[in-house]
Amino acid sequence: MSPAAPRFGAQNPARLVVLISGRGSNMQALAECCEREAWPAHVAAVISNRPQAAGLAWAAQRGIATGCVDHTAFAAQSDPRAAFEAALREAIDAHAPDLVVLAGFMRILGADFVQHYAGRMLNIHPSLLPAFTGLHTHRRAIEAGCRLAGSTVHIVTPELDHGPIVAQAAVPVLPGDDEDRLAARVLRAEHVIYPRAVRAWVDGAWWLDGGRVRHAPGAADDLWHFSPRP
Ligand code: GRF
Repeated sequence: MSPAAPRFGAQNPARLVVLISGRGSNMQALAECCEREAWPAHVAAVISNRPQAAGLAWAAQRGIATGCVDHTAFAAQSDPRAAFEAALREAIDAHAPDLVVLAGFMRILGADFVQHYAGRMLNIHPSLLPAFTGLHTHRRAIEAGCRLAGSTVHIVTPELDHGPIVAQAAVPVLPGDDEDRLAARVLRAEHVIYPRAVRAWVDGAWWLDGGRVRHAPGAADDLWHFSPRP
């Protein structure tokens, strides 16, 4: 399979819908890169499952459409998760996304939901996958004696934190690191690679082929990132 011709341009920018649950610093990095670098793309909406998510207020202030689908509101339904996911899907699709970008979205998504966005939903996970799927990645990396930690951008598949890898950033684990110091170092690297991975998708510089991500020649160089300094 070969790369598709670029689908987006100034006249038909890619529509990105970003899902967050909290601070939203990755979403901010993405929105700022989009604007600053005049991408043929824009953040069409930011949607949270938590009404108090700080990132929602940031997006609203910048004039980005925001929405909230509060997962706790579905607790009384016979199938709370299905009801939440149906409402979330409706909220997302109202913005006609080309790409759905999970950025600190802290809900596990079911197979039907993932299938609906197959190949067009990305996540960033704060470890060098396939190591340390799930939670507390930094603590576990320190406890395991890792000398490198990092973050991975991957396509979302039904198996949690297991989708095809698009981009990775590695940072050192330094003597005396605790979870917070390492998390801060990884986060800075995330702010570099997530926008790059999304931009490369917008440009058609990577694509899915037989369950693996293929990159256009030369296009992957800045999607593997190592920050040697703290
Ligand atoms: C990031 O470390 C990301 O890898 C993880 O959650 C964190 C979100 O941070 N999935 P922020 O909300 O983008 O600041």
